[in-house]
Amino acid sequence: MWIDLLTLFPEMFSGVFGNSILKRAQDNGLLRIEATNIRDFARDKHRSVDDKPYGGGVGMVMMCQPFFDAVESLQQQKPEVDEIILLTPQGQKFDQQLAERLARKQRLILMAGHYEGFDERIRTNLATMEISIGDYVLTGGEIPAMIVVDTIARLVPGVLGSAESHLEESFGENGENGENLLEYPQYTRPSDFRGMEVPEVLLSGNHERIRKWRLDQARERTRQRRPDLLNETE
Ligand code: ADE
Repeated sequence: MWIDLLTLFPEMFSGVFGNSILKRAQDNGLLRIEATNIRDFARDKHRSVDDKPYGGGVGMVMMCQPFFDAVESLQQQKPEVDEIILLTPQGQKFDQQLAERLARKQRLILMAGHYEGFDERIRTNLATMEISIGDYVLTGGEIPAMIVVDTIARLVPGVLGSAESHLEESFGENGENGENLLEYPQYTRPSDFRGMEVPEVLLSGNHERIRKWRLDQARERTRQRRPDLLNETE
């Protein structure tokens, strides 16, 4: 999978994508992640990427031209771009289901903006979708873009090693009959830490009892913390 990021701050991405699992995936050729500076596509001598809003008002608006030119330049290369995604608080709410859909694509462009907002024509005539990571406002789309890329990347086959991918996890289908449950509690050594003991069942060696206990715990935890997830189950 190939993901291009359009941003005014490409260096923000180097720490996140230059370490750990995502670095290994790029080194192994499973992922290609490239951050491109939108300012490289500015045309005036000040390298402007934003301007005052028509109709007045405070703040600056990100201009069409650098975004359109940058996307068109990336589109010169094959394979074809599947989605051009704008990160904004007004977008479709990001969740595991959307991540799974995007992880099946070959090529994505993510556009992160700063300042007051984007010229509306970037939304309507360039982006193919808008994504929000939640109902709160960040200073820019870079951190949301990192969250989206990280979530998608770990779903690409081969990106997680076998030990990592065998983890049962919240928001996957980890119950019976495709239930969407939060993770059950996990423990490691010692079995008694400052008087806090590991549940006896986990030390029993009885795999069937352990499996049942974990499922019960996951259901109870989901019922207490996220009853909305239980209602989503078909
Ligand atoms: N940019 C600023 N806030 C955002 C959010 N919540 N989601 C996506 N992009 C954003």
